[in-house]
Amino acid sequence: MKKLYEEAQKEISKADSLQQIESLRVKYLGKKGKLTQILRGMGSLKPEERPIIGQIANEVREKIENILTETKNKIAQLEKEKKMKIEYLDITMPGKLYKYGHKHPMTQVLDEIKKIFLGLGFSIAEGPEIEFTYYNFEALNTPEDHPARDLQDTFYITSDILLRTQTSPVQVRTMEKTKPPIRVISPGRVYRSDEIDATHSPVFHQMEGLVVDEGITMGDLKGVLNIFAKKFFGEDTRTKFRPHFFPFTEPSAEMDVSCFACGGKGCRVCGYTGWIEILGAGMVHPNVLKMSGIDPEKYTGFAFGLGIDRITMLKYGIEDLRLLFENDMRFIEQF
Ligand code: PHE
Repeated sequence: MKKLYEEAQKEISKADSLQQIESLRVKYLGKKGKLTQILRGMGSLKPEERPIIGQIANEVREKIENILTETKNKIAQLEKEKKMKIEYLDITMPGKLYKYGHKHPMTQVLDEIKKIFLGLGFSIAEGPEIEFTYYNFEALNTPEDHPARDLQDTFYITSDILLRTQTSPVQVRTMEKTKPPIRVISPGRVYRSDEIDATHSPVFHQMEGLVVDEGITMGDLKGVLNIFAKKFFGEDTRTKFRPHFFPFTEPSAEMDVSCFACGGKGCRVCGYTGWIEILGAGMVHPNVLKMSGIDPEKYTGFAFGLGIDRITMLKYGIEDLRLLFENDMRFIEQF
């Protein structure tokens, strides 16, 4: 039995899995195990020897049971540690970050501009990007020999269909189907056959404005655009109107705003002039009113057009127009 104990001790100490422990328990202590076999032979012993041997057998059983339990616990502990290592979960690790989309900077600017004009009682008009030459030029009092009509500047589809070069054709379309008073803005894409560079793109965005009613004057034009400039660029913004020429307005002007970056002192943003040109405008030419079916003797109106891309670039200090079109997330995410 002593030998049996030593043998069991040796074997059990080598065990490294719970199954091995179980089979060793069966091997030594089971019904058909080694210890049981020895006890079966007790019949041949003298009666006075039996209790002594029986006691030794119990001790050996107890000792083997003890090492089995000990080893079993040790293995269980090791297995648990192994499992913990494999299944380790760092609950302090930051979770997955989901990215939320948001509006493109140009859409944000356009929304802001729309809100200002809707607040002034304007509504939104739309027109097609593929337009009749008539609406883009003739009806806008733009003669055949005007440089804008040149193939070099305009994408023609046929001789009388083109990609609109400005949002101004929406003026005519609106006047054709609406009676004054008219107060509309019309944002949208326009196309010009320009080479792509930091300030040019063959497709860009404009917003047209048109007001037609009895007694509309240049004072109304200045008043509305002043309010817009202050609301959009800040209450301290001053405006300046310079004479200009557009075939479809008379008189025509360009409007500058005092530089929102330096307040007019002169800086990099305004090219050290203190002023930034933001839109073209003027009183709707009587020929345009007439061609659109509105009596120029009874009604007058003003119109303006501004570049959304340009205003977005100014507002956010974006120096390259291409950034607005490339949709590089590293850029877009900054707004
Ligand atoms: N359509 C003109 C342009 O593209 C801008 C403009 C609109 C000027 C309305 C006057 C009135 O430059």
